[in-house]
Amino acid sequence: MPRYEGVSPSVIRRLPRYHRFLEDLQRRDVHRISSRELSALMNLTASQIRQDLNCFGGFGQQGYGYNVDALLGEIGNILGLQRDYRSILIGAGNLGLAIAKHMTFETKGFNLIGIFDRNKELVGMPVRHLVISDINRLENFCKTFSPQVAILCIPKASAQEISDKLIRLGIKGFWNFSHYDLTLDHPDIAVENVHLGDSLMTLCYQVSEILE
Ligand code: NAI
Repeated sequence: MPRYEGVSPSVIRRLPRYHRFLEDLQRRDVHRISSRELSALMNLTASQIRQDLNCFGGFGQQGYGYNVDALLGEIGNILGLQRDYRSILIGAGNLGLAIAKHMTFETKGFNLIGIFDRNKELVGMPVRHLVISDINRLENFCKTFSPQVAILCIPKASAQEISDKLIRLGIKGFWNFSHYDLTLDHPDIAVENVHLGDSLMTLCYQVSEILE
């Protein structure tokens, strides 16, 4: 049962952007903003903002605008950012290490509790507060610590076997960089696919619109 029934995925996809802008306002000590100012800042119409936020009951007040701290808190609650889902990262290569080192999981609803790789040369290497573990220890680790989310930074060829195993071990969500389409075999699992190449191709289109 969805927590916010009838809210379209496109509205949910816009919430992190609201969160990012509001966080920036809060950092700059701005505690109140009119819907017109917020819409100019975010390059959205005021009515789009109202429509989006009304899906969750609306947070603005006529003549006052939005209370930045309250709205930030509400959006954080809707996204579940306080949840601290236990997460593991599989594949500590170039991409996996960059993600493990630079993502602030803690402020985005996740707690990174394990990093795994099959390359023995990487095993034992410290990464932030963790040490890379041998993939052979995955099963025992999952049985002991019950991670809920996995970040896949492994090649497509390895991803199917590993993801099937992880689902058997209780993983409910994937942040999937692997280019393997998990949703075909596992429609009941939460999957967020990331393809940086898609973003780059979209930029290519936009640049070609300007240059040609
Ligand atoms: P990499 O070769 O540096 O790292 C891959 C790591 O995965 C290696 O350390 C390898 O030992 C490990 N690995 C492979 N199979 C494994 C298994 N079954 N169990 C545990 N560990 C395993 O490669 P890189 O650059 O980090 O990229 C990783 C993957 O992510 C590539 O397949 C690449 O295509 C993909 N990628 C996806 C992007 C996206 O936007 N979705 C962007 C960049 C890379």
